[in-house]
Amino acid sequence: MYLTKDEERIYDGELGWAYQVSMRILVKLGDLYGAKRLIPIKSAHISGVSYKTIGDAPIEFLRALVDSGGRVKVRATANPSGMDYENATFAYLPSELVEKQREIIGLYRRMGVDTVLTCTPYYLEAPRRGTHLAWAESSAVVYANSILGAWTNREGGPSALASALIGKTPDYGLHQPENRCASVLVRVEAELRNEADYGALGMYLGRVLGDKIPLLQGLAKTEEIFLKQMGAAMATSGMVSMFHLSGSKEELAKITEEITVEDEDLREVKEELSTSSFDKPDLIFIGCPHCSLSEIKLVAELIRGKKVRDGVQFWVCTSRFIRRKAENLVRIIEEAGGKVICDTCAVVTWLRELGIETLVTNSAKTAHYAPSMSRVEVSFSPLKECIKAAFRKII
Ligand code: F3S
Repeated sequence: MYLTKDEERIYDGELGWAYQVSMRILVKLGDLYGAKRLIPIKSAHISGVSYKTIGDAPIEFLRALVDSGGRVKVRATANPSGMDYENATFAYLPSELVEKQREIIGLYRRMGVDTVLTCTPYYLEAPRRGTHLAWAESSAVVYANSILGAWTNREGGPSALASALIGKTPDYGLHQPENRCASVLVRVEAELRNEADYGALGMYLGRVLGDKIPLLQGLAKTEEIFLKQMGAAMATSGMVSMFHLSGSKEELAKITEEITVEDEDLREVKEELSTSSFDKPDLIFIGCPHCSLSEIKLVAELIRGKKVRDGVQFWVCTSRFIRRKAENLVRIIEEAGGKVICDTCAVVTWLRELGIETLVTNSAKTAHYAPSMSRVEVSFSPLKECIKAAFRKII
């Protein structure tokens, strides 16, 4: 890979170890994928924040980066952590977990990373169409490429952090226009009634597409709330990093494969995503990926005048940024007995340590990960069903 004189100096360690190791990560990645050069990025989004998911090994590396003066060169945001320090729900987690998590967040902060810990950084500041990014959260990658028209590969935590420190990324994959075209035409004949159906469609497509880019035809609804669930699910069961909803004649000519999705395909996926069904779950979880302001509004409208059943927790997860904008809606949710939780989610926190063994969610991504990552039983249901399971009417 070609490096400029300045990049070579960084590679040789003239700016210190943190930048040298970051440059070496990027060059290795670029060489592996045949990039010819590095290109500037507008922002980086870093995964690998929850102590539950990363464990001890990367902490040493983060400490070393901080100690050798590593500071981000571009706007950098970070994924959810293992807890919400401002919410009493997490007050009784073991102190070792609390302290380790605090240290990780502190290390990112010292490198200049914005520690509004969320998987939906695009609600904080949406990248413009055509801008190059180095984002690591797979659901945010699909969202950025497909809905916002920004350009990013699906980075890992270390490469996104390296890009944040250098301000650049190797020029390959989805940074090149010829790699952003759809190769598979997906005809959706299945009936899609709600966001959970879109999540199930995403799970199905991720499995059959692998890393191919689809062009979808026949979607009944294309509102953001549905596409966000579908994209997050595609990136969960597969490596899909982008989808299209339309294409020019030239783009359609590049399609080499066609598939049709029918009701039966989604029925099987939905059945698999529910490991059990419960009369009274421990937790109802909404907010994977983290809720937008309009999703919080929708939840607040649906639960106004209701009360969470005894022994059930109702979580709505979002970023602290959105929570601040939604004060009145947060009040409605809290008055109904729900919790608006920030900086974490039901997948990356320690559910069992919080006494949760059974979970209902409208997110296909959570339904996929929670049984293996948190050893909980899951029921996958659309939002309205989730609310039915969580609330009783006040008489
Ligand atoms: Fe976000 Fe947690 Fe889902 S990080 S995408 S809410 S699994």
